[in-house]
Amino acid sequence: MRLIALWFGTVMCLLTSCEGGRSVDSRVDAAPNLAQASRNYILKCSVCHGADGAPVLLTAPDLRTSTLDLDEREAIIAYGKGTMPPHQAMLSKAEIRDLALYIEEFRH
Ligand code: HEC
Repeated sequence: MRLIALWFGTVMCLLTSCEGGRSVDSRVDAAPNLAQASRNYILKCSVCHGADGAPVLLTAPDLRTSTLDLDEREAIIAYGKGTMPPHQAMLSKAEIRDLALYIEEFRH
C-alpha cells in the first residue's frame, strides 16, 4: 500500500508541479493533447469509470454508452455531479476539454 502511495505521488509530481504543466496547458484553442488526457484519465477518472469507460464504481455511468455532448461532459468534469467530484481545481480548462474529447473514444 505504501509503495502504491509512493508511486502515485511520483506520477502526480511528474504530471503536475514538477513538470510545470500548468503553464504549458494554459492553451485553450490549441490542438488537443490526447496523450496527456489519457494519462489524466488513468490517474483521475479510471478509479470510478474504469480504464476503458466500463464503470468500476457501480453508480458511475458507463462512458461507452454516454450520450452527453462535449459541452455537457466538460461541465460535469469541471463541476462534478452527485458523487462525482469536481475537477476544476486540479485540471486546467484545456485539460478538461481534452478529457471530454478523449472519453469519446470509448464509444467506438
Ligand atoms: C469518485 C468517482 C468518480 C471519479 C473520480 C470521476 N467520476 Fe465521473 N462520474 C461519477 C459518477 C457517480 C457519475 C454520475 C453522476 C450523476 O449523474 O449523478 C459520473 C458522471 C460522469 C459523466 C457523465 C456521464 C453521463 O452520461 O451521464 C462523465 C462524462 C464523467 N463522469 C467523466 C469523468 C471524468 C473525465 C473523470 C476524471 C476527470 C471522472 N468522471 C471522475 C463518478 C466519478
